[in-house]
Amino acid sequence: MHILKLGVNVDHVATLRQARRGMFPDPVDAAAICELAGCDSIVCHLREDRRHIQDRDLYVLRKTIKTKLNMEMALSEEIVGIALDVKPDQVTLVPEKREELTTEGGLDVSGNMDRIKDNVGKFIKAGIGVSLFIEPDEKQIEASKEAGAEYIELHTGRYADAVGEKDRYKELNKIYKATKYAVSIGLRVNAGHGLNYKNAHPICKIKGIEELNIGYSIIGMAVFKGLEAAVREMLWIMKIYEKENH
Ligand code: PXP
Repeated sequence: MHILKLGVNVDHVATLRQARRGMFPDPVDAAAICELAGCDSIVCHLREDRRHIQDRDLYVLRKTIKTKLNMEMALSEEIVGIALDVKPDQVTLVPEKREELTTEGGLDVSGNMDRIKDNVGKFIKAGIGVSLFIEPDEKQIEASKEAGAEYIELHTGRYADAVGEKDRYKELNKIYKATKYAVSIGLRVNAGHGLNYKNAHPICKIKGIEELNIGYSIIGMAVFKGLEAAVREMLWIMKIYEKENH
């Protein structure tokens, strides 16, 4: 049994389907294969612009997923209403801009405390776990605790995009320190964004990180190797390096 968990984001299967606005490939089928390959949760992001995941996907995934459904979402009134209706196991609150290619930057929890705290309370009351997607920054970590979230997801995008060893190490160290601090104040920690087969292993070694959420690299690798093999290969990397995460 591996301890470090893997959540696979199936948004990009839907991106491919939406290229033809048809029924294939179906993220619901992809989720089943990811689960059979051994992942621990399925992640999907119902964006306000519905560029990939559609409402139907979320409702069907809720019925078919056997592991855990982690719904990424922005705090728009419409999406909050859908989340409360679907009741995923967990919501991960993310910032969302229409013009972005993917989620850029973490949530500004300290700058939007009242709104976030209010919504965290609503989800918890409905029996839905809450994770806040934030930069590895002390102020945002403290604000996440104050907002009542059980989990944070540390944004690994800057680490993934860092050019050169020095910068990469600097960004990795921020994630390491942020994890340590978050755990010390009672938060549980996940991490994700931009992680792939070459850069995930140093993150696996960070003590305190419970789950990696990975989408693009796994779905991309699946084009060449098949989805089951792509998920298994990532799990294999995680299993090797997590040994140092205890
Ligand atoms: N975690 C969060 C909160 C995200 O928004 C995303 C992108 O949808 C991911 C993880 C996965 O990122 P990637 O597709 O780059 O692996």
